[in-house]
Amino acid sequence: MKETINRADALVLAHYYAPDAVQAEADFVGDSFALAQKAVASDKPVIVFCGVSFMGESAKILCPDKRVYLPAPDARCPMADMATEEEILHMRGTVDDLAVVVYVNSSARLKAQADVVVTSANAVKVVSRLKEKNIYFIPDKNLGAFVAEQLPEKHFYFGHGCCPIHNATTEREAREALSRHPGALLLSHAECPEAVRALSAFVGSTAGMIAYAEKSAAQEFLIATEAGTLYDLRRRCPDKKFYTTREDFLCANMKKNTPEALRSVFAGGGIPVEVDENIAVRARRALRRMLELAQ
Ligand code: 13P
Ligand code: SF4
Repeated sequence: MKETINRADALVLAHYYAPDAVQAEADFVGDSFALAQKAVASDKPVIVFCGVSFMGESAKILCPDKRVYLPAPDARCPMADMATEEEILHMRGTVDDLAVVVYVNSSARLKAQADVVVTSANAVKVVSRLKEKNIYFIPDKNLGAFVAEQLPEKHFYFGHGCCPIHNATTEREAREALSRHPGALLLSHAECPEAVRALSAFVGSTAGMIAYAEKSAAQEFLIATEAGTLYDLRRRCPDKKFYTTREDFLCANMKKNTPEALRSVFAGGGIPVEVDENIAVRARRALRRMLELAQ
């Protein structure tokens, strides 16, 4: 029998890249780090996570006593599997004084092999607090390179993964967008390629980009990240103008979190997220270490 969920028992979390109508219904909209923090702080027995599967898995790992649902269980971030446990073992056997830093956009299996997990919002701070000189940063080569630029005292080894959506944005596209909007400031997600980051007034997480736009005296912004972010930007800053650097800056997986999919979870159509306990125990250690070091 289908078990319906009482709305009052659930915390509905939505990432900024979820469809606008779902962001409007959520209890909290945020980036991956803020959403993980909200999940941990919640006293509700149920979390409904309108994001991609690694986000629901991380919430379940951090909150094993809660029931966690993904309205779109097949919404996977392709970057989550762009590194392997074998690569990590090889690096551990080859490089001394090494910390394995795994971006949260990764499978639970990879997190289980990590010394610490990071998100784009806290990666620089967390890595700066590690005692190891050598850092193996996986899977995102672009975020890894951004962190390395801020921390010249560390020696980095990078993975070969990337976000297919952010990595597809080009310097030419960014320059053309800047010439169409000459008064605009370019704000980029740290998953963008180096040539785009180099043109930007700010580089960071989605929440970091939003906070920068809110505080800035500038009136126009070009946003090099997923277009769903415009919804929150326009809600917070109704008098400012926002454009994305490309029209189709869209994550198809995030967009699977439709209002219908969200309603179906409450109607009893969801399957709770499960993570193998052997993996969860080790992944939890790396996620909790992130929460500690990011404070
Ligand atoms: P944030 O860390 O900004 O939430 O980014 C997550 C993500 O998937 C970016 O593509
Ligand atoms: Fe993954 Fe990129 Fe989508 Fe973020 S935008 S969830 S990194 S595919």
